[in-house]
Amino acid sequence: MTNKLKYFIGNWKMFGNLQSFAIVNRVNKFAHNLSKKHFKSKIVLCVPSTLIYFFKKKMKSTYISLGAQNCHHYHGDGAFTGSINASMLKNSGSRYIILGHSENRSNGESTSLIKKKIESSLNQNLKVIFCVGETLKEKKLGKTLSIINKQILGSLEKKMSFKNIIIAYEPVWSIGTNKIPTNAEIKKVAIYIKSLCKKRFYSNYTLPVIYGGSVNSKNIKIFSLINDIDGFLIGGASQSSIKFIDIIKNYYK
Ligand code: PGA
Repeated sequence: MTNKLKYFIGNWKMFGNLQSFAIVNRVNKFAHNLSKKHFKSKIVLCVPSTLIYFFKKKMKSTYISLGAQNCHHYHGDGAFTGSINASMLKNSGSRYIILGHSENRSNGESTSLIKKKIESSLNQNLKVIFCVGETLKEKKLGKTLSIINKQILGSLEKKMSFKNIIIAYEPVWSIGTNKIPTNAEIKKVAIYIKSLCKKRFYSNYTLPVIYGGSVNSKNIKIFSLINDIDGFLIGGASQSSIKFIDIIKNYYK
């Protein structure tokens, strides 16, 4: 285990209500204790937009950050019924935002639309967790790296503020399925993403790459052996403070 900064980012998806503050509170307390040890970690909970402001106000001291899970691409006010823009999320207390999640790509989000959302979020100084990953069919056809190449080159651009971007490698076939790639597969993708971004966008900076897909308190020990990974995007298991905290504890054990 290294002492490099590690991200543990929870993606609550469509889960949670006002009572779920109990989870946030426990995770926040745990993060406080962890910060007293010498581990460099950043803990983020990406919750439904309706809860961000409430959670932010209720936390007395903050050792975690809150994030959102998507936004409308347009930066200003407009006739977009039911939509929320990046500025509104920033204003409600969000510091991070998940964009390009496969659950939204499968609802029709294109790489060019995701690019607009990334630009709009970076303009608000939100930290973007940009998700990429292949489907099972694409994996079987040996297309993992070429799909990731298309997703990255279609949505990122040299002029963007790369210090505010984290790339999450989330194989679609691994999300919520309990199926996970081998460490060698994750390592290969992480190295590929880092070198692609260096070559195409920002040669002096190595972008953080995190892994997401069925991460739990058991497999985290296996994943912790991959030095090229800068953290984890955790879906289902982040909806329980016990499971989420156990993942982080076991990572550092
Ligand atoms: P999972 O979800 O951990 O439940 O597989 C990950 C995600 O969708 O970000």
